[in-house]
Parts: sequence; structure tokens; C-alpha cells
Amino acid sequence: MLSFGRNRSQARSNRSMSLGGMDYVDPKRKSNVASKLILAACLTALCILMLKQSPSFNTPSVFTVREEGVTHVLVTGGAGYIGSHASLRLLKDSYRVTIVDNLSRGNIGAVKVLQELFPEPGRLQFIYADLGDSKAVNRIFSENAFDAVMHFAAVAYVGESTMEPLRYYHNITSNTLVVLEAMAAHGVKTLIYSSTCATYGEPEKMPITEITPQVPINPYGKAKKMAEDMILDFSRNSDMAIMVLRYFNVIGSEPEGRLGEAPRPELREHGRISGACFDAARGITTGLKVKGTDYSTPDGTCIRDYIDVTDLVDAHVKALQKAQPKKVGIYNVGTGKGKSVKEFVEACKKATGAKIKVEFLPRRPGDYAEVYSDPTKIKLELNWTAQHTDLEESLSIAWRWQKSHINGYGSPSS
Ligand SMILES: NC(=O)c1ccc[n+]([C@@H]2O[C@H](COP(=O)([O-])OP(=O)(O)OC[C@H]3O[C@@H](n4cnc5c(N)ncnc54)[C@H](O)[C@@H]3O)[C@@H](O)[C@H]2O)c1
Repeated sequence: MLSFGRNRSQARSNRSMSLGGMDYVDPKRKSNVASKLILAACLTALCILMLKQSPSFNTPSVFTVREEGVTHVLVTGGAGYIGSHASLRLLKDSYRVTIVDNLSRGNIGAVKVLQELFPEPGRLQFIYADLGDSKAVNRIFSENAFDAVMHFAAVAYVGESTMEPLRYYHNITSNTLVVLEAMAAHGVKTLIYSSTCATYGEPEKMPITEITPQVPINPYGKAKKMAEDMILDFSRNSDMAIMVLRYFNVIGSEPEGRLGEAPRPELREHGRISGACFDAARGITTGLKVKGTDYSTPDGTCIRDYIDVTDLVDAHVKALQKAQPKKVGIYNVGTGKGKSVKEFVEACKKATGAKIKVEFLPRRPGDYAEVYSDPTKIKLELNWTAQHTDLEESLSIAWRWQKSHINGYGSPSS
């Protein structure tokens, strides 16, 4: 180890002496000082040389420069369920990826999986930041040369949004404004925005098309609709390429079993149906509560459109490839076919092999009978169709990951 500090005795012996009013420097000491100066100069030169030869000195990080033939995508919320799957797909397809996430809901374990799969320089970087911090966001945009943004980061539970509406408007609407302003200020020209079928509310007519009126009925759907409106208003006087994807109910996980859905345990009560099924299959909960058996559907339970996350991220890549300056594309991302809650539960029982106790209860206020998409537009314009439409298969894949990750991305336990 090199020490640049001087000890006390050295300091004293090197001091100059005063003789008859003249500063006198002992010549022996003078040469001692000179040799030390030379040594220090040599060491400094050596350090500079070593630094210059280190790959990070001369060449700025590859993330800071645009590179011909490489598309650099900022994935907000990339430590979360859908964002991590999208990052994996982008990396597999040779995109350069920067994940920005505040880890409030996501998992650093998912980022580690991606880093282990793509350790080469210039493929993936993770930046821990909160999108509500506009200074931090601007710094990130000024220090990185993004070509496109996939904006996934959000709080995303309907039930929670009714209890904490301001959190939802802040996290979804206000943070999207921060991202949009940063994109405009730093000349980033492509945005793929994660929206939701919750923006449609309770449409009278099924299936839902992109021109079905958007009348959201909860703060989550309203906050997303407000974010969409901001984006669309901005697009009118901008040359940005914008794609808004309205997802239906997302399920499943990556077929090779490296990523999965691992929400925080405290969010279970707000959770989604697949999480609830897996928790019941594992015995974490006593069983499943199906609310409402008297809807006007074939088996009396609600009907939803379940889209596999592998198909969903494929839609994102297609949207990115087809995004055009000054154009806005709005697409439903669903299978176009509804499945009932009873069908879902049966598929979950088969996929997990578990005896899941099902309790049938009265309707939950605010639930609507049927929600499913018309995916015609996305097929016509992006050449995208859902491929993974077998519920049992999607759930089997997700269950495999769940079984081998009892603690999510935390340390495995027996
Ligand atoms: N999962 C679904 O069924 C579904 C359906 C429709 C739409 N969506 C939308 O898809 C997107 C992703 O959802 P998900 O299911 O992967 O959720 P998720 O909670 O798994 O992931 C969201 C990620 O965003 C991060 N995040 C949240 N607030 C942040 C902030 N202020 N700054 C930085 N990072 C922040 C979280 O830490 C998390 O990693 C959301 O926009 C959601 O509204 C999801």
C-alpha cells in the first residue's frame, strides 16, 4: 500500500532553518527533498499512466454514447415482474439495457439474474433511483444515451389504489410526467408506455377495442388514463414515437425458469389471482375465495383475459420495432378470449397438483362480469398475436419457478 502521509519526525528534519535572517537549506537535505519530489512526480506519472490504460479512463462508459447499430433502452421498473421479463427479452435480442428502479416493489435478485446472464460490458446496467426525484432522473438522462424508454415502473394494485389514491396519482401520473419531461429535454424519441385495461372501467360492450370509451372506476385506472392523456397531448406537438400498450391480466413466467413473479409478502392481500392460487397451493393461505357465482356468464363466475408475460414482452419488442416518429400507436394486449375464474382455478389445481380448497362467496362490489380484449388492431398493425394461451401450461411454468423460489428472489429455504 502506498502512503502519501508524512510522519512527524520526517516533517521536522525536512524543515528549513533560519540563519542570520536568511533562509538556509541544508544542501544534503535539499537533495533529499529533491529526490522525494522526483519520486512523487514519478509515482504521480505512473498513476496517471495506469489510469489512462484502464478501460474506463479514456473511453467513457458505453452507456453514455450512442453506438451505431445498438439500441439502448431505458427500462423503468426493470426489477419488477414484467420489467425484468422485458429486460431479459431485450438483452436476448441484443439491445443495450439500463434498468432504473427504486426497488420499492421489485427485486434486486431479478437484476442479478440478468447480470449473470449478460455480464459483458455495455449490455446491462442497473441504476437505483426513484422516478419521483426529477433531479436524479435528469442526471440519469444526461449521463446516458438512451434511444428509447419502456416505462413499466408503477404501483399497480387496484385495491391498494382505492386505499391510497394519492400514492397512485403521484407514482403513476406525476412520475410519468417526470420521465416524459426528461425524454423531451434530452432528445429521447421513443416511448413504450405500460397501460392497462383498467383504464376502460366497466364497458358495456365486449370485447374491448381501443376505441371503447375509457371511463376508469378506480384511482389506479384513473392515474394510468391521466398518464396516457399527458403522453397523447404531448405527442401532438412532438416528433416522439409513442406506443401505449394496454395490458389485460398478466400471468406466467419465463419458460426457462430464470425469472418469476415475486411480489412483497405484504402485497398479498391486494394480490392477483395467480399469486393467490399459488399461495393456496403452497398452504400459505387456507384456500381460495371466489367472489361471485351469479354473474351472467356460462359458469356464473367473472371472466377475464389472461395474457402470458412471454407474449406481453414480445408485444413490447414489436411495438419498439414499429414505433415511428410523430406517430402514436395504442394497442390492447390480450388474447381476445375470456376465461372464467372457475376455469382459472381448475387450471391452477392441475398445474400445481395441489388440492386447493375453494370457498364461494357473494360478489365483491366493483367487480364486473366480463372483461376481454379485441386484439385485432395489434395483429393487423404489429403482427402480434398471443401464442401462449393455454392457462394450465402458463401456470405450470410459473409454478415451477414458484416451487424452486419459495422465498422469491431471496435465499432459498427448505
Ligand atoms: N401485472 C399486471 O397484471 C399488469 C396489468 C396491466 C398493467 N400493468 C402495468 O405493468 C407495469 C409493471 O407491472 P408489474 O406487474 O411488473 O409490477 P411490479 O410491481 O412487479 O413492478 C413495478 C416496478 O416498478 C418499480 N417502481 C415503482 N415505483 C417506482 C419509482 N417511483 N421509481 C422507480 N421504480 C419504481 C418497483 O420497484 C417495481 O420493480 C406497471 O406499470 C403496471 O401498471 C401490469
